[in-house]
Amino acid sequence: MAMEARAPAVPIDSKQSSRSKQFDRSGLRVIGGDDDDSTRLSQTYDVAVVGLGYVGLPLCLAFANAGETVLGVDTDPEKPTALQAGHSYIKHIDDQTIATVVEKKKFTATNNFSDLGAADAILICVPTPLTVNRVPDLSFVESTVKMIAPHLRHGQLVVLESTTYPGTTDEVVRPLLEEGSGLTAGKDFFLAYSPEREDPGNPKSNFANVPKVVGGYSPTCLARAQSLYGRIVVEVIPVSNCRIAEATKLMENIFRSVNIALVNELKVIYSRMGIDIWEVIQAASTKPFGYMPFYPGPGLGGHCIPIDPFYLTWKALEYGHHTRLIELAGEINTAMPEYVVSRVTDALNDAGKPVKGSKVLMLGIAYKADVDDDRESPSYAIMESLEQRGAEVFYNDPHVPVIREGRSNHRVAGRSSVDLAYEVDVVVLCTGHREYREFDFSSLKIPLVDCRNVVSKRPRLYYAA
Ligand SMILES: NC(=O)c1ccc[n+]([C@@H]2O[C@H](COP(=O)([O-])OP(=O)(O)OC[C@H]3O[C@@H](n4cnc5c(N)ncnc54)[C@H](O)[C@@H]3O)[C@@H](O)[C@H]2O)c1
Repeated sequence: MAMEARAPAVPIDSKQSSRSKQFDRSGLRVIGGDDDDSTRLSQTYDVAVVGLGYVGLPLCLAFANAGETVLGVDTDPEKPTALQAGHSYIKHIDDQTIATVVEKKKFTATNNFSDLGAADAILICVPTPLTVNRVPDLSFVESTVKMIAPHLRHGQLVVLESTTYPGTTDEVVRPLLEEGSGLTAGKDFFLAYSPEREDPGNPKSNFANVPKVVGGYSPTCLARAQSLYGRIVVEVIPVSNCRIAEATKLMENIFRSVNIALVNELKVIYSRMGIDIWEVIQAASTKPFGYMPFYPGPGLGGHCIPIDPFYLTWKALEYGHHTRLIELAGEINTAMPEYVVSRVTDALNDAGKPVKGSKVLMLGIAYKADVDDDRESPSYAIMESLEQRGAEVFYNDPHVPVIREGRSNHRVAGRSSVDLAYEVDVVVLCTGHREYREFDFSSLKIPLVDCRNVVSKRPRLYYAA
């Protein structure tokens, strides 16, 4: 069911306001008015989402469950095939949810980009990683936009959702769309940026209740995007332009990165002082103002926090500015896997064993609790460092039975999860999965290194890391 978008914080001029009142239900087709396009193709899909991953697939479901007709497009041919057969490849989305929207013909998945011409709006949710030299890799965005451009037609709305540096929508996406289609943004088609605020695996995070920030290339573009997102979220936050929306997403993730770095640094200092950082955080969290808790860990993981801040770092150089705090935070967080390795070394040393030749069981390969996402996981850095020192490393992860080939784990792809009772010299808990939170480790005779403070029934040889 359609929901009202919040009134824009940025005033849309009166001409625009009166025109926007003429939108039909979709908010995309203007009935009459100077951008009415009677030559457009027959409407088949309300929305198309390009890139059916952790962000794109839930977005498809949000629209489909709101009654919209959705087209999902992905270059990986296995994904549309699986979805059409009613199968989910994301652990926290079940098969039935997919099968229901496919059966109701509310959702169709394909790898055929030419179908995009039949959608009112096209939302881009493809990866924005860093290259090996840690600079923004916009190749996925660029290739996607080039594939969309030949199918772009009058009146369509294109929204970039991938996280990126301020200026991408205007400087990269717009020219490619205009060149490839012969159309003009803001006049023939509409262009906007709206960052995703997906929190995968968090049962308390309800997509519809998370406000969505939207910036448009022009006031008309903004109005169109607002109207679209107003159908799936309770609150749309309009901002002045695409750059503000792009910068907002980076600010949110940089805020997390910097605060996690701070608490990681405090963890190391307090540990040397014999102070339990977790108890300190708990106590500090009782302050009702001016403080919010962040938690230490074995290092950053996932497709956001380890990557996104460096999109700004790179762009800032164009303006002659070094983002020192952001880079320092990155350094501190990146050093955390080595800190964990030093704690494993301490634990083995106390047991009279060298790292070389010792067997290590790592609990958790996914970067966060109760999900199967292992992208940029610090577990891989810990694993690699221990193996370089001559340890034999095994892992257990109920969510990652086999390590899939990914951008950061070629070396270990194909390895399988071993039994929790596997015989080793030391256990390192890297991810706070429910299975480990509920496990009774009290009878464990070997050392346990806990990076997450989730072990309530602790063994005698317990090491916080
Ligand atoms: N994962 C998160 O929690 C999260 C949260 C907020 C924002 N983001 C951002 O959203 C974007 C997407 O992230 P994700 O986690 O969904 O990535 P993902 O890797 O899970 O999914 C991306 C999908 O895009 C597909 N793809 C790649 N190139 C394509 C192309 N040219 N055309 C069509 N499909 C293509 C891939 O096959 C894959 O299915 C990134 O910019 C990320 O930073 C992610």
